[in-house]
Amino acid sequence: MIEGIDIRKNFDGKELFNGLSFRIDDGEFVCFSGESGKGKTTLLNIIGMIEPLSSGEILFDGAKIRTNKDRLDFFRVKAGFVFQNFALVEGKTVEQNLAFVRKSSRSGVSIEDALASVGLAGKLKSKVYTLSGGEQQRVSLARLFIKKCDVILADEPTGSLDSRNAQAVIGILKTLNEQGKTIILVTHDESVKRVCGRIIEL
Ligand SMILES: Nc1ncnc2c1ncn2[C@@H]1O[C@H](COP(=O)(O)OP(=O)(O)O)[C@@H](O)[C@H]1O
Ligand SMILES: [Mg+2]
Repeated sequence: MIEGIDIRKNFDGKELFNGLSFRIDDGEFVCFSGESGKGKTTLLNIIGMIEPLSSGEILFDGAKIRTNKDRLDFFRVKAGFVFQNFALVEGKTVEQNLAFVRKSSRSGVSIEDALASVGLAGKLKSKVYTLSGGEQQRVSLARLFIKKCDVILADEPTGSLDSRNAQAVIGILKTLNEQGKTIILVTHDESVKRVCGRIIEL
């Protein structure tokens, strides 16, 4: 369970959130929606511990992340990230990109099985720059089968894809959700919103 309690966030005197609270249960598939500039990315990054709060708190299973060890554990085994621009190393192969997941963070799923899960079984030795955008996003999703994570934070993961590739990406996120992972996704695509269990309007 993830709770946001009375969250406030200011940038340069501009107030983005003024006492926002929410609760996301384990296994939910939630979408943050709202106009550009509303703070969707900022909120996702606050939950993902890569953006500080001005005040308020984020609790994971009722507890705050306090120590460096809590933080390390959060990134190592709890959180998984997906970005609109994939965040892969383009000059390296698919296999090399997927091998970056640290041993201590691995779920036990092999690179080959993870690639099969995203429909890219033949692409192990391909350089990332030779793949289409849809394929690159599927490689970044393959990472989430290899890495341990309970919560997946996805910032407009279909934002740069055509509708067929967007559907493939959403299908894969659904599979990860069915495995028990909580999905928090930012989108303004109506067809993506329809598959979410709950929409939180910002
Ligand atoms: N690091 C930052 N410094 C100053 N302002 C920021 C920063 N990050 C975001 N903002 C501002 O906060 C607002 C919300 O940004 P963002 O979270 O990216 O919105 P969204 O993802 O909903 O489009 C915008 O007005 C943006 O300019
Ligand atoms: Mg954004």
